Amino acid sequence: MPRRPIDITIPDLRDTRAVVTGASDGMGLGMAIRLAAAGAQVVLPVRNPRKGEAALTKIRQHAPDADVSLRSLDLSSLASVAALGKTLLEEGQPIHLLLNNAGVMTPPERQATVDGFELQFGTNHLGHFALAAHLLPLLRAGQARVTSQVSIAANQHAINWDDLNWERSYNGRKPTASRRSPSDSSLWNSTGVARQVVGASPVISPTPGSLLRACSRPAPRSAGTRTPCWFA
Ligand SMILES: NC(=O)c1ccc[n+]([C@@H]2O[C@H](COP(=O)([O-])OP(=O)(O)OC[C@H]3O[C@@H](n4cnc5c(N)ncnc54)[C@H](OP(=O)(O)O)[C@@H]3O)[C@@H](O)[C@H]2O)c1
Repeated sequence: MPRRPIDITIPDLRDTRAVVTGASDGMGLGMAIRLAAAGAQVVLPVRNPRKGEAALTKIRQHAPDADVSLRSLDLSSLASVAALGKTLLEEGQPIHLLLNNAGVMTPPERQATVDGFELQFGTNHLGHFALAAHLLPLLRAGQARVTSQVSIAANQHAINWDDLNWERSYNGRKPTASRRSPSDSSLWNSTGVARQVVGASPVISPTPGSLLRACSRPAPRSAGTRTPCWFA
């Protein structure tokens, strides 16, 4: 398919607070740059402070006056998710945009989060569900739009309801819906996350197509094991 540059005009986002997961790299960093350049106050919850600082530097190169800051978050730990929720609730500022972008993609071997969930299911789905739940008062206050970055590749193998935690059926060569598939939008909506965000837009799930990203190189250690990714 022919590629052409995407030219999207972003409105003035002053007075907008955006939380972007996975903004230390890849598309999350790109979105954080665009949001910050449009005047949004952008919060980057990251698991690797060094990469987070490098991301802040890059954002400020594009937007010298950017209002950007780091918080700590490891989506593969529900305790870490809860801690971020507590931090942001204590800060007390409404959130207008929550971009659920962070994700791990198709490790060759089944891995688990610290809470015992298959790594992709636990990180991509449950970590973000828990985050949205912790942030509900702030999302309501900001009448937030919540987006969930998905992958059409994950449509190939639907969520396996008979083996939700992929203990018997894991196949590291197949992207599965334990990454987030476009059907997630209905998953998020049907499980009530959108309805809980009073006045908010329904959860939307953009799919970015296919990009060569960090998934093509070894990822940092997570849940005690390496997490290389195979598919975009
Ligand atoms: N690239 C594609 O072609 C493509 C296609 C369809 C969908 N997607 C989806 O789009 C999203 C972004 O993709 P990308 O290519 O930009 O990915 P990427 O470059 O690999 O970046 C992934 C981001 O997620 C973060 N992350 C991973 N595990 C985390 C955890 N446990 N806690 C907190 N942060 C975590 C990473 O942090 P670290 O910096 O610490 O590793 C990184 O910032 C993903 O959800 C992916 O599934 C991508």
